[in-house]
Parts: sequence; C-alpha cells; structure tokens
Amino acid sequence: MRALEADERVNRVHFVASENSLRVLAEELSLSGRANLLEKLLGAAPKKTVQHADADIGAPIASGSHPSDGMIVLPCSMGTLAAIALGLANSLIARAADVALKERRPLVLCVRETPFNRIHLRNMTLAAEAGATIFPCIPAYYANPQSSSEMAKEFACRVLAHIGLPQPGAYVWKPEA
Ligand SMILES: Cc1cc2nc3c(=O)[nH]c(=O)nc-3n(C[C@H](O)[C@H](O)[C@H](O)COP(=O)(O)O)c2cc1C
Repeated sequence: MRALEADERVNRVHFVASENSLRVLAEELSLSGRANLLEKLLGAAPKKTVQHADADIGAPIASGSHPSDGMIVLPCSMGTLAAIALGLANSLIARAADVALKERRPLVLCVRETPFNRIHLRNMTLAAEAGATIFPCIPAYYANPQSSSEMAKEFACRVLAHIGLPQPGAYVWKPEA
C-alpha cells in the first residue's frame, strides 16, 4: 500500500479491510481499532488511498461501470477465497472481486494457508478458471532476505509487478554467467 501511494502511475487506491482482518492486523502488526487505520498502515495521511467498509456494497468498486485496473486481495483467507470462487458477492471485497472477473480485469488472490484441504484446492481452481491469479504468500528465498519485512517487501514488489507496476529496486534474479 505504501508502494502504491508512492507510485506516480497510480491515481487512486481503494482499500477495504474485512471485519476479521482487523483482528489479524491487531495480532500480527499490533494495529488496533479501525480509527485512522490508513494513516497507521501508510505511516502518513493518505494522498490517493480511500477506505471503504466491507459492508458498503454501494461503494464505487462494487460496479463494473467504475474504471479499475485490477484488484489484489492480500492476504486472502480461505474464507474470502471461497466467497470469491463461489461468486457470493456478499461483501464489498467479494463483490469487487466478482466485478474484476466479469470485467476481465486482473484479480490477484494472495492466498495464505497451510496445509491446504481439498476444499481450498477446489476453490483455488475455481477462481483460477474464472480468471483470477492464485499468488500464494510464499517468499522468494533466492533473494536471501535478511528480515521478515524484507521478505514482505519483495513479495509486495512481485505482486505489483504482476499487475504491471514493476517497482524500482525490486530484486531480479540474475544467474551467474
Ligand atoms: C491472527 C489470525 C491469522 C489468521 N491467518 C489466516 C490465514 O493466514 N489464512 C486463513 O485462511 N485464515 C486465517 N485466519 C482465519 C481467518 O481470519 C478467518 O477464517 C476469517 O473468518 C476469514 O475472514 P476474512 O476472509 O474476512 O479474513 C487467521 C485468523 C487470525 C485471528
């Protein structure tokens, strides 16, 4: 999200945090509450990122008429994967993902779970067959990351490059000549 804020090619970022993600943010990043969540995540007041409630199924991104270059769900829980794979459209995240698929726009699902059960595997296949990219949260060890934040940063760079936003300074594999 910080990279998107800093990227001159990007005009607008629509951010949606599910209700359950607030608990995950509290546990994993020690970020509590939804007040000023964007400021806390970005480390500064947002310039181009707008936040929508996951219950707001009337937000602009709920409609295919709203122009959009793609959508990233990061991290994508198995619950959200299931909702997207089955086309439930029962939350703004699931609806916006449904819109991305029907409008043939990039949809990147950064699934995070291990091990996978057969339901997870089926839902990933369903989503991939509908046009989504399954982009598991798996770090690249060949870049020799020295910290978990370096791993996370390189992963974010890979995801952004995948939707056409290669990031300056991102690791690129160069085999020895
Ligand atoms: C700290 C924490 C971490 C979690 N991590 C994952 C995860 O990596 N993958 C997953 O599928 N569910 C994970 N869960 C469970 C989901 O949050 C839970 O299934 C939730 O209902 C999914 O809702 P969501 O899709 O809005 O996140 C986690 C829960 C907690 C509390």
